[in-house]
Amino acid sequence: MADPYLPPAIESPLVVVSNRGPVTFERNEAGGFEAQRGAGGLVTTLAGVFYRDEATWVAAAMTEADREVPRRQALDHATDLRLRFVSLDPKIYDGYYNGISNGILWFTHHFLWDIARSPTFDESTDDAWRAYEEANRAFAEVLDRFPDDAVFLVQDYQLSLVPMYLRELRPEARVIHFSHTPFAGQTYLRMLPIGMRESLLRGLAGADVLGFQSRTWAENFLLSARSLLGAKADLHRWRLSLDGRTSLIRTFPVSVGAEGLRSIAAQPETKAIRREIRASLGEQRLLLRVDRLEPSKNILRGFLSYELFLRRNPGWQGRVRFLALLTPSREELTAYREYGDACLAEAHRINTELGREGWVPIVVRLQHDMDYAVAAYGMYDAMLVNAVYDGMNLVAMEGPVVNRNGGVLILSRNAGAYGRLGRQSLGVNPFDVRETADAIQQALEMDEDERIRRARGLSRTVLAHTPATWLADQLDMLDRAVRLRGSDE
Ligand code: G6P
Repeated sequence: MADPYLPPAIESPLVVVSNRGPVTFERNEAGGFEAQRGAGGLVTTLAGVFYRDEATWVAAAMTEADREVPRRQALDHATDLRLRFVSLDPKIYDGYYNGISNGILWFTHHFLWDIARSPTFDESTDDAWRAYEEANRAFAEVLDRFPDDAVFLVQDYQLSLVPMYLRELRPEARVIHFSHTPFAGQTYLRMLPIGMRESLLRGLAGADVLGFQSRTWAENFLLSARSLLGAKADLHRWRLSLDGRTSLIRTFPVSVGAEGLRSIAAQPETKAIRREIRASLGEQRLLLRVDRLEPSKNILRGFLSYELFLRRNPGWQGRVRFLALLTPSREELTAYREYGDACLAEAHRINTELGREGWVPIVVRLQHDMDYAVAAYGMYDAMLVNAVYDGMNLVAMEGPVVNRNGGVLILSRNAGAYGRLGRQSLGVNPFDVRETADAIQQALEMDEDERIRRARGLSRTVLAHTPATWLADQLDMLDRAVRLRGSDE
């Protein structure tokens, strides 16, 4: 039975498609299969939306055990979702995932290139691009095995070509593509080799509905796509016509599931962690950050801003701790490893220069521990989310629904979440360490009434949107796109 929150018009089987699934499998000692949860914003968002019989989740096999797990055991027990793995040759997977998706597309959509030096495209780019095409084609072929009335919800930059390939196999397919990340502007996207840029845009245009986290990213797509030969971009009605088809371009900002977070917060394990953090803090105030260890999150400038704040305000030295909960990510890539090392080295330098007996200014925990993060969410005085660019940023929403301490949110104006939470947070330009240092001071010195008023506003704003409406809005828009087919409206 489908869940009651789904809009009645949609009874077709939903097929969620992403590179990383909600779980990956490993063999245990007894030779059985054990599921491990995936990390990151995409998995968190999607796992909060779909349950039970109503959907199947198609994802890339990431481990040997994923390839071997029998169909009936390929379930995510947290959601009861059926999983279907797409098995790719490891070399193809490497080119598709490390080479193009993480090595090029992630850097492009987050404006991360250091353009005097990178990127440089050469023959190895061509090989990786062929792997990306092959992987996307393999996904489309698996999708083509689903029943005719299936609705495909394709996620993110790893699968940009899937809508087009699926459309070639099945012209009537109903396809939504959603980008969890920013989308690079037209000038920046022009850095990509021309064939790659055009394929990415045409690939996405194969979808009936293209969803983005915020208006800026949707606009960036439309402005880029209008350069394609034969394309007509309607910037008033947010439509793209290409090859006799029309795609609707819309924003669907993701939300977080408050119930799940609050039930983690209420667990005895989480309460025990909270007590442990409280005891180690003593009288110190808590500045928190929770992130994947990742260049777009701007961890380095976050530490520098905090250092500047401490140097400008010696009276705060010894009275505050910066707790950074960082989850190692994409360690196959040199740029990530180097960035991670630089962050740790900077924290170490600051601790050495400013720390003293009984006071460590920055405590870094490298971990993937949701209970710990939720415990810390419950008690921060201020939380720093200073991403250079971010599609949305879930941490900015998770913190306020769990926090019980009138916690102040310091938020990058370049995160999609700023559109929703900007008014009640302290906005910062993520490149400006002076402004960020000032915001840290303002957050820690804000009077109680204002802290509470802002914190309530933040949590109310987050709670006003649910993951279920995020999905329902996309499905409604798909209905509309399908009705428009063949009409000249
Ligand atoms: C985060 C981002 C998503 C992205 C995902 C991939 O969750 O918000 O946009 O798809 O990372 O992470 P992975 O670890 O699978 O490369």
